[in-house]
Amino acid sequence: MRPADVVAVCPGSFDPVTLGHMDVVERAMALFGDVIVGVGRNSKKNYLFDFDERMRLTRDAMAKLTGVRVMPVDGLLVDFCRSQGAGVIVKGLRFASDFDHELQMAHMNEAMTGIETVLLIGSRLYGSISSTLLREVASNGGDIAAFVTPEVDAAVRAKVAAMKAGTASGSVDQL
Ligand code: PNS
Repeated sequence: MRPADVVAVCPGSFDPVTLGHMDVVERAMALFGDVIVGVGRNSKKNYLFDFDERMRLTRDAMAKLTGVRVMPVDGLLVDFCRSQGAGVIVKGLRFASDFDHELQMAHMNEAMTGIETVLLIGSRLYGSISSTLLREVASNGGDIAAFVTPEVDAAVRAKVAAMKAGTASGSVDQL
């Protein structure tokens, strides 16, 4: 199969979606014929945004990339890929510390279904952005506008303010 005939899935937590995620998706679009962004759950993570919020923010951001579909991933990622006829999982790799986790997931997904994982090196512009770091910066009053869309920036500010006021669940200390 040629790359243009392959459906690729870019999965992630997107808590929240960043310009780094969008860069990886855009580059996946240049390589593969059809790209689906899969919003999933990582059982080890405490999320700032609930699943519906992550879906909405990711859909809004990815709407800027024509032709990309954003879909929820319930259950195993490999089952989702199978249901969509996807042959490849695409993820961004930023730093060496990402690698061990990505390698474990790639091996497990390959062992379960034979699906390939393609790791794209994070770009020079966005390579050091992580949602985790942005949540920490935002929760301490820092400005993350250079790293996310204006809608995500506004949503993060609102969420942090609500958590500090006690009107949203969770605590900024957990982030
Ligand atoms: O942005 P993240 O947190 O690296 O994304 C991780 C995600 C959501 C892609 C991963 O946790 C996932 O695939 N979750 C779905 C459940 C699953 O298939 N788990 C087994 C992975 S080997």
